[in-house]
Amino acid sequence: MKSLTLLVLTHIFLLAFASSAQGYAYDFFYFVQQWPGSYCDTSSGCCYPTYGKPPSDFGIHGLWPNYNNGSYPANCDPNNPFAISQIQDLVSSLQTNWPSLSCPSSDSSSFWQHEWDKHGTCSETVLNQHGYFQAALNLKSKTGLLSCLKSAGISPNGGSYTLTNVKAAIKTCIGHTPYVECNKDASSRYQLYQVYTCVDHSGTTLIDCPVFPTSGACPTSFIFPSF
Ligand SMILES: *[C@@H]1O[C@H](CO)[C@@H](O)[C@H](O)[C@H]1NC(C)=O
Repeated sequence: MKSLTLLVLTHIFLLAFASSAQGYAYDFFYFVQQWPGSYCDTSSGCCYPTYGKPPSDFGIHGLWPNYNNGSYPANCDPNNPFAISQIQDLVSSLQTNWPSLSCPSSDSSSFWQHEWDKHGTCSETVLNQHGYFQAALNLKSKTGLLSCLKSAGISPNGGSYTLTNVKAAIKTCIGHTPYVECNKDASSRYQLYQVYTCVDHSGTTLIDCPVFPTSGACPTSFIFPSF
């Protein structure tokens, strides 16, 4: 009996060791893109970056390590803080594709810093700082969200669209069903706010979401405001 217990314990230990030895402290990523029009037309408003109004396109919010059980790790390594020197060659692309709209106006680097320190450090065994930001930029062009929606007749023109049609349009383009999050404009009308797509732990391959977020659920139809 004792040796059986020992065998079982050894087996459990080996399994735990084997999975941690892979070095993944998370199961997959949410890649989250934000519609700037829906960030700016709320009652709190927004501030354009110091370098000017961002393009009328989805912006990156973040690339977030997540667990299959729905929870997520955060602030994983205070010893590996954001260092803009490591991503100098990406700064102009980040300014365009990952702009901060929060107030007061900024050069957006504090947004990137927050995202790296809170989320990026939890995937540092797979992606270093340059790799993390590069992966997010690659995912933005890979998903091509705005042109995808436009090709299905879904445009940021202030019109109303159904959740079913928005999800189907994105699935047609990327092969996987996204999570669509809504917020409310200053008149309390629901609008398309953020789109979550799921990515494998390498940060490159789009996958079916193992679990969907629950915050900011959309009603059956909502507005896609202009920007
Ligand atoms: C979810 O899974 C992670 C990793 O396996 C674990 O550390 C965490 O405690 C789990 N959280 C919940 C709420 O089950």
